[in-house]
Amino acid sequence: MTHRSRASRFGTLLLIALAHRAAAAAGATADAAAEAGAAAARAARYRGSALPAFRKDLLALAAIPSVSSLPQHADDVLAAADWLVSKLRAAGLGNVSLLPTEGAQPVVFAEHMGAGPDAPTVLIYGHYDVQPVDPLDLWTSPPFAPEERGGYFYGRGVDDDKGGLLNAVHAVESYLQAASEGGAPGRLPVNVKFLLEGQEEIGSPNLAPFLTRHAALFADADVALSADGGQISEAQPGIPTGFRGAIGLQVDIVTAGIDMHSGMKGGSVQNAAHALIQLLATLRDPSTGRVAVSGFYESVVEPDADDRDDMEVGGWYRPTLEVVGMGSGFSGQGIKTIVPASSFAKLSARLVPNQAPEEVAGKVEAHLRAHAPPLANLTVTVMGFRADPWRSPRRTPGNVAAARALRKVMGAEPLFFKDGGTVPALAYLDSLLGLPTTVFAFCLGERIHAPNERLKVSMFDLGSLGWIELLSELGATGKAAFAEAKAARARGAAAAAAEEEEEQGGARDEL
Ligand SMILES: *[C@@H]1O[C@H](CO)[C@@H](O)[C@H](O)[C@H]1NC(C)=O
Ligand SMILES: *[C@@H]1O[C@H](CO)[C@@H](O)[C@H](O)[C@H]1NC(C)=O
Repeated sequence: MTHRSRASRFGTLLLIALAHRAAAAAGATADAAAEAGAAAARAARYRGSALPAFRKDLLALAAIPSVSSLPQHADDVLAAADWLVSKLRAAGLGNVSLLPTEGAQPVVFAEHMGAGPDAPTVLIYGHYDVQPVDPLDLWTSPPFAPEERGGYFYGRGVDDDKGGLLNAVHAVESYLQAASEGGAPGRLPVNVKFLLEGQEEIGSPNLAPFLTRHAALFADADVALSADGGQISEAQPGIPTGFRGAIGLQVDIVTAGIDMHSGMKGGSVQNAAHALIQLLATLRDPSTGRVAVSGFYESVVEPDADDRDDMEVGGWYRPTLEVVGMGSGFSGQGIKTIVPASSFAKLSARLVPNQAPEEVAGKVEAHLRAHAPPLANLTVTVMGFRADPWRSPRRTPGNVAAARALRKVMGAEPLFFKDGGTVPALAYLDSLLGLPTTVFAFCLGERIHAPNERLKVSMFDLGSLGWIELLSELGATGKAAFAEAKAARARGAAAAAAEEEEEQGGARDEL
């Protein structure tokens, strides 16, 4: 045997060995894929027979009046959190706990790390608080006596977000409670951590310090999923790539110590209602509808081609400033002949990247002061409700997995879109935990925040199946893909920071 042939024979053996290894690896991958598919199928079977119980869960949770903005419902908010603690325990999750925040509403935490360190870990976000219900007389059935009629669930919170978060909980339950062929307990394709908050409807005022304090709890998460969101329609699946930020202000005007007789004083003293009208009228250019506050649009990032496409699909994604409430003088039946001594208006701005809520509030306040009518004392208060805008690239690993799951359960190609609404948590998950979020929800946003909020029963049922598929797709995506995306994101952020520094350096050089 020549040297050469020995070498080549060794090479052949090596190739055969490598081929065996590759075949074994491919076999293992195929086995893993088959096992993952079988686990999802078992979970789907469990879900099929548990659907009546899932619907009962929604009616039970929606019956708890967990209105976060009203102090008289503080105990109800806690009752909803307690209900979730029991539910998560029964579903098979571990380390279930109520974690206090600086507000009256705790975070409900639960996890299941049984998929092991090589599987992705997903943080599932949702909120269990709801909006107030007034005007009560416009409800057909009482808001906290939820019921099913004509193919819909009716009740406050059935859509936003109790239906949404239960879809995720039920999918996890389906994996954990579905026994495998041998009768062993079911397994999840990913590790999960639930973060269910009770302050979303008041702008998540304590979530940022909470996440900072508990960052270690979520340090091993690879991706966040928001169960708060919704679909474009029953036939058209969609994945949001943006939510707007927000800030609220109140302006109070006082023109006198007391209302005056409109016959004795009318025409000779300032009228607080007129002063307010005059002031509010300066906020917009009436011919274009543009906000007339100096610098309001200054930090707005112009939408790129993807953003423009997404905006065509849905969701208004430009900044706005709206009067959301106002009052002055006599508003009862009939007439009262007075010159009002005071008036107020509430303003709400919806913001897009890169507008900063506090900066915008400052500009609006400066505008109001600069345009204050004569003989009127003005007070401007920035309200607690604030949120940073949130924006996501389209093809993150989470969104790709979500698109596959949606295609599978809704049978149509998902579209990306911008949502005009606000979920304050998403920007915090991004900036404080470094987590990209995929928004995955099956609600259709019907009459949310309004009387007769409702959720189509078929969409609620579809949601748990969608989440089963999503968790399976995320498992198949693998931890490495998320780590890579995170590293690329960090590199992108570092490059952007360096660029900004260079620009600032340049600007300094010019000075
Ligand atoms: C609960 O937390 C412990 C400690 O971090 C962890 O080892 C365990 O896996 C968690 N339980 C579940 C069900 O994930
Ligand atoms: C407006 O504010 C000034 C200074 O605080 C005060 O002296 C005046 O009485 C106020 N006017 C009204 C109408 O409240």
